[in-house]
Amino acid sequence: MLYIAPMDTNTHKQYIRRCFSLAKKGLGSVSPNPLVGSVIVKDNIILGEGFHEVYGGPHAEPNAISNSKESLEGATLYCNLEPCCHTNKQTPPCVNVIIKNKIKRVIISNLDPNPLVAGNGVKILRDAGIEVLTGILEEEGRELNEAFFKFIQTGKPFVHIKLAQTLDGKIATDSGDSKWISNDLARKVVHEWRLKYDAVLVGRNTLSKDNPVLNIRMGVDAKGKVPYRIVMGSIENMDLSFNLFSDEWSHRTIIVTSVESYNNASDSQIEQVLQKKLKVIFIEKNNGSIDLNQLLEKLAGLKITSILVEGGKGVITSFIDQKQYDKISFFVCPKIIGNGISYYENDDLTEMKDAISFEKTYVESIDNQVLIHAYNSSEKSCLQD
Ligand SMILES: NC(=O)c1ccc[n+]([C@@H]2O[C@H](COP(=O)([O-])OP(=O)(O)OC[C@H]3O[C@@H](n4cnc5c(N)ncnc54)[C@H](OP(=O)(O)O)[C@@H]3O)[C@@H](O)[C@H]2O)c1
Repeated sequence: MLYIAPMDTNTHKQYIRRCFSLAKKGLGSVSPNPLVGSVIVKDNIILGEGFHEVYGGPHAEPNAISNSKESLEGATLYCNLEPCCHTNKQTPPCVNVIIKNKIKRVIISNLDPNPLVAGNGVKILRDAGIEVLTGILEEEGRELNEAFFKFIQTGKPFVHIKLAQTLDGKIATDSGDSKWISNDLARKVVHEWRLKYDAVLVGRNTLSKDNPVLNIRMGVDAKGKVPYRIVMGSIENMDLSFNLFSDEWSHRTIIVTSVESYNNASDSQIEQVLQKKLKVIFIEKNNGSIDLNQLLEKLAGLKITSILVEGGKGVITSFIDQKQYDKISFFVCPKIIGNGISYYENDDLTEMKDAISFEKTYVESIDNQVLIHAYNSSEKSCLQD
């Protein structure tokens, strides 16, 4: 029988945390793959570190192995996701490299939800006589890769709604002015999130009011990435001279509309759509509203694994009412504006027993603003499994 040496959980947590930090260096370049970091340790000395740097490139474990200068025989390899074991990809299985290098022990945060791996990587390592421990900082590991987990398990992108509101719960004044409710530091956080997400989505009114660019700025290293920029609404009412349709990244813009709306568009609008090579996704309407489940399935077909929904009220209300969101984050900013636009509207909700409730809330403080995060607690959420 295999002897499993006593393991110091705190030490394991320390190295798994290092894996998380390394994994985050892949933000913006590895999707639809997960963020993975790896550390190789022997006698409490780190022999090598690596992370999954770019989609299609080597995984974290072979990178950590090739960055090591010494023999790895008898060493412990840490990684936040189960090493892969399948050949259905561009790089060889990581388990083979681990076994070949005579690594003695592998410590993992999460099993890979990908059915092509899902425990098989661990089995192959154990069959080769390698000690394997799983589940170290499992919840943090899952949160780090929450978009990947949702995408693999449901085939739909992870949806994160974000908004900035005043102390009296408004996202804009009555006239639609919202520049700016939050301060520079809060907005910088949103630009960091844009690096993390495959796509950013806004409604047609936000397009008209704000003429946003939705790229990654404010001192955040974009790594050359511009997320897909999705605008939802009636195409016949969209002014195609706005930034999203006319700047240098217009090939990253997707219009989501209905066939009826396209049929109502003028000849000159259709001509511009074709000339600018804008992508248009047609989705059926249900009770006058675009079916977001259908939309998410179509976006998944474009390998969009995660979406940051940036408003405004109409769009946020749709995602909440159709229960097609996973997480919501509010910047609560120290201003009051009296009358204005709220981010959610529901005339039918008259009793507290029908309130939409959330779970797993947590709070951060950002330069005199409170950032509240909460997860969907409805049964449709991916986080209930
Ligand atoms: N503080 C913040 O965080 C924040 C963020 C973003 C925006 N804002 C502000 O919010 C205001 C805009 O909010 P808003 O509620 O007026 O507009 P919005 O949500 O930006 O856009 C609403 C429009 O989007 C389309 N739409 C949304 N959901 C749809 C669905 N399920 N199916 C089909 N179409 C859908 C419809 O377009 P059609 O009418 O063309 O069909 C709808 O009229 C602006 O003043 C903006 O500055 C604030």
